[in-house]
Amino acid sequence: VDLSYTVLNMLTREARRWYSVSHLSVQERIDRKRNAALIGGGQKRIDAQHKRGKLTARERVELLLDKDSFVEYDMFVEHRCSDFGMEEDHNKFAGDSVVTGQGRINGRLVYVFSQDFTVFGGSLSGAHAQKICKIMDQAMMVGAPVIGLNDSGGARIQEGVESLAGYADIFLRNVMASGVVPQISLIMGPCAGGAVYSPALTDFTFMVKDTSYLFITGPDVVKSVTNEDVTQEELGGAKTHTAVSGVAHRAFENDIDALLNLRNFFNFLPLSNQDPAPVTECHDPSDRLVPGLDTIVPFETTKAYDMLDIIQGIVDEREFFEIMPNYAKNIVVGFARMNGRTVGIVGNQPKVASGCLDINSSVKGARFVRFCDAFNIPILTFVDVPGFLPGTSQEYGGIIRHGAKLLFAFAEATVPKITIITRKAYGGAYDVMSSKHLRGDVNYAWPSAEVAVMGAKGAVQIIFRGKSNQAEQEAEYVEKFANPFPAAVRGFVDDIIVPSTTRKRICRDLEVLASKKQTNPWKKHANIPL
Ligand code: HXC
Repeated sequence: VDLSYTVLNMLTREARRWYSVSHLSVQERIDRKRNAALIGGGQKRIDAQHKRGKLTARERVELLLDKDSFVEYDMFVEHRCSDFGMEEDHNKFAGDSVVTGQGRINGRLVYVFSQDFTVFGGSLSGAHAQKICKIMDQAMMVGAPVIGLNDSGGARIQEGVESLAGYADIFLRNVMASGVVPQISLIMGPCAGGAVYSPALTDFTFMVKDTSYLFITGPDVVKSVTNEDVTQEELGGAKTHTAVSGVAHRAFENDIDALLNLRNFFNFLPLSNQDPAPVTECHDPSDRLVPGLDTIVPFETTKAYDMLDIIQGIVDEREFFEIMPNYAKNIVVGFARMNGRTVGIVGNQPKVASGCLDINSSVKGARFVRFCDAFNIPILTFVDVPGFLPGTSQEYGGIIRHGAKLLFAFAEATVPKITIITRKAYGGAYDVMSSKHLRGDVNYAWPSAEVAVMGAKGAVQIIFRGKSNQAEQEAEYVEKFANPFPAAVRGFVDDIIVPSTTRKRICRDLEVLASKKQTNPWKKHANIPL
C-alpha cells in the first residue's frame, strides 16, 4: 500500500511539473531559469548572508569586475546527484552553487568563479567543479588570470567521491596553470578540509577579516584528536594565516574592501607569462631625486631605520602593495611601479630583528621572487642584512634547507635584477640577496654599504681572540672592510651611488634591461630544496 501510494504521488508530481512547464514557451523557460539562477538559494538565504556582513556571490562578482563586463557561463548547469532526496525539484538550483564566467578589471580580461553560499553552503558538487574547470581551461588557452572567490562548506556531502574527484580536477588545473597565468584566491567565508589546497596552490591568497577561515579540520576534530580548545578564528582566521602560518598574503576589513583591493592588485600583474605587465601612465618623474635618502641610514651601524621609507621614497607615487606585511617582517616584499612599469621589491627590514634572514623570511622571499621570475616582473632588491639568524631553533627547523630556497630563487631568476646595498651585506646573506655572483644585472652600493664576512666586533673576536689590542684591530677592520670599496674594486658592485639618485638610476637601468634575454640550461624542471 505504501509503495503504490508513493508511486502515485510521484506520478502526480511529475504530471503537475510537466503540465506547468509544457505551457511555457522555450523563451519563458529560459527566462525562468535565468531568474532562478540570479537568486541562488533564495531570498531568505541571501538575507542571512547579508546579516553576516557578507555579500552574495553575484554581488561580489559585480564589485570585482568593470561595470557590465561580466559574461556568465553555465547558468543552466544543475547538480546530478539523486541520493538523499537531491533529485527533488526544491533541491535543484540553476547554476548550482557557483557563479562562473569572464569579465574585465580596468579593461583587462580575467576569469572568475564565485562560490554561492546560499546554495548548499557553496559546497562543491561534481557540476560545481566542472564549471570551475571550464573557466580555468579557457583562461589557460587564452592567457588570462583566474580569480577564485571562495565561500564554501567544502565537499558536497551528498555526492561523496564525485565531489572529491571534482576537487582533484581543480587541483590539477591549479598546478598546470602555475607559472602560466596568475591565480588569486580570495577567501570570503569557510574553506575547510582538502578544499584549502586549491587556494594554497594559487599564487596569492587573500582573506576577509572575521568572516573567513581556512583549516584542514575544524575545532571539533582538533579537540577530539589533540584535546586542544581552539576557536575557528584562532585556528584558521585571517590573523592566524597572515601573521602566524604564512598561508595567506593579506587580509582586508570586509568584502568590499577586499574586492576593491583585489582590483588594485590586479593592475600590477601581467595576464600571463607571455604578456608584459601593464605599463601605466606615470606622473612621477623618472629622474626625481629623493634627498631624504642621503641621510636615512643612521651613522651608527646598529641603529635601525625603516626600509619601507626607502622603498616608498623611490617608487612611483609612493605606491607599494605589500605582500605578507604581517608575517616574517624582517623581510619586506611587494609590488610597485618604476616609471609606470611593475617591479617586484624585496628588502631586508633593519627595523625587525636587524633584518636578518631566518626560515620564515627566506621562504617568504623565495616564493615572491619565483612569482616575479615566472611572470617576467623585474626584481629590485634592497640589502641591509647582518646574516642568517643563528641558534638551535633555526638549525633544527632547517634554516639551511629554507635559506637555500631564497638563494635558489634569486640564482635561477632571469628577469632584470637590480640590487642596492644600503648598509650591511654580511656573510652568506650577501651572496643570497641578488648579488652580482647570482647574475645581478646592476648592483649598487650606497656610501654607507659594508660588504664583509661579518661585522667588525665579531670578526676581531675571532681572528684576534685573546689579543690585547682588539680596539685597534677593530678600527683597522672597519677601515678595511666596513665600506663599499672591497666590493667595488672587484666589480662586485657596479657603482657606489649617491642615495638620492637611486630612483633615477633604477628607472634608467630598467629601460635598458627591458630587452634582457637570459635562459637557463634545459631541464625538465629544477629541484628547489623544499
Ligand atoms: C552539503 C552543505 C555542506 C556540505 C553546508 N551545507 N555544508 N551541504 N555539503 N559540505 C549546507 C547546510 O546543510 C545548509 O543547508 C547550508 O549549507 C548552510 O549551512 P549551515 O550549516 O546552516 O551554515 P553555517 O551555520 O554558517 O555553517 C557553515 C559551515 C557548516 C561551517 C560550513 O555548514 C559546516 O560545517 N559544513 C560542513 C563542513 C564540512 O565538514 N565539509 C566537508 C569538509 S571535508 P540549508 O538547506 O539548511 O540551508 C572536504 C573534503 C574536501 O571538504 C576534500 C578535497 C580533496
